[in-house]
Amino acid sequence: MQQILDNIAAQMALETDRGKVADYIPQLAHIDPNQFGIAVATPDGQMYTAGNASTLFSIQSISKVFTLTIGLGKLGDGLWTHVGREPSGDPFNSIVMLEHETGRPRNPFINAGAIAVVDAIMMGHEPKEILGEILQFVHFITDDESIRFDHKVAASEMEHKDRNASLAYFMKSFGRLKHDVDKVLGTYFHQCSIAMNCQQLASAGLYLVSNGVDKHSGVRVINEHRARRINSLMMMCGHYDGSGEFAYRVGLPGKSGVGGGILTIAPGKGSIAVWSPGLDHIGNSKLGLKALEMFVQETGWSVFAQ
Ligand code: DON
Repeated sequence: MQQILDNIAAQMALETDRGKVADYIPQLAHIDPNQFGIAVATPDGQMYTAGNASTLFSIQSISKVFTLTIGLGKLGDGLWTHVGREPSGDPFNSIVMLEHETGRPRNPFINAGAIAVVDAIMMGHEPKEILGEILQFVHFITDDESIRFDHKVAASEMEHKDRNASLAYFMKSFGRLKHDVDKVLGTYFHQCSIAMNCQQLASAGLYLVSNGVDKHSGVRVINEHRARRINSLMMMCGHYDGSGEFAYRVGLPGKSGVGGGILTIAPGKGSIAVWSPGLDHIGNSKLGLKALEMFVQETGWSVFAQ
């Protein structure tokens, strides 16, 4: 495994076409695209890393996996009255389908869906309380209390909130959001601003590798059926309108973020986190996808093969 990762990192270092760093969040615009990290955590407690695997980055939309888990834990199947579970085939910040579907977003991973999940888990509580809960959850699944929000990134998104605010007000106009829009957005932006490195992120994914059980502590994070369904959603919707391509090239559930990270789950085998800040035209890490494609070719890990 170590050799496979070293080889991938060496290959990625040679790549010249590295994509474009997200600049619609000004705090992310200055990140050096010449970075690449990969980490693999396995349920027997091993951790393999290569490249910039201990450099912190903004997990952005990958956080939507964690809030979905919290949402399913709190509301159970009731969560599906707030958000759907169909791939959108549209960009992550698209508004078009919301009108046809009366303000109920297609899935929890597009921005509108993640905003609806935040609203659903707030249940009358203040952003501070919900953010405490989200961070506590991340600390628990990583067994690492050093993980923090990046308040500068959250503030930068709040300053440039126009698109997400439009999505939120549009949903609110259909009576879909219960809380104050700025409070929901503030919570959502902080959730997205969580800074993690590849090792921490790979470790965070282990509960989805092991049928919902946190292997560090043996504690169940979520029931087996829900863990399986979160993986299904990651496969179908985790890369927005690039989800088909990801399933075709990688064949594992994955969730990307505009910070350039991708969390990928190989059920029963391991959790893989890759990070490279340059994005493709859809907003997914360009080298991240390439590296994962190499990784599955080398390891044979796939949900479609034994
Ligand atoms: O709301 C946004 O636009 C960002 N906080 C998250 C978007 C994102 O990560 C899309 N992923 N590829």
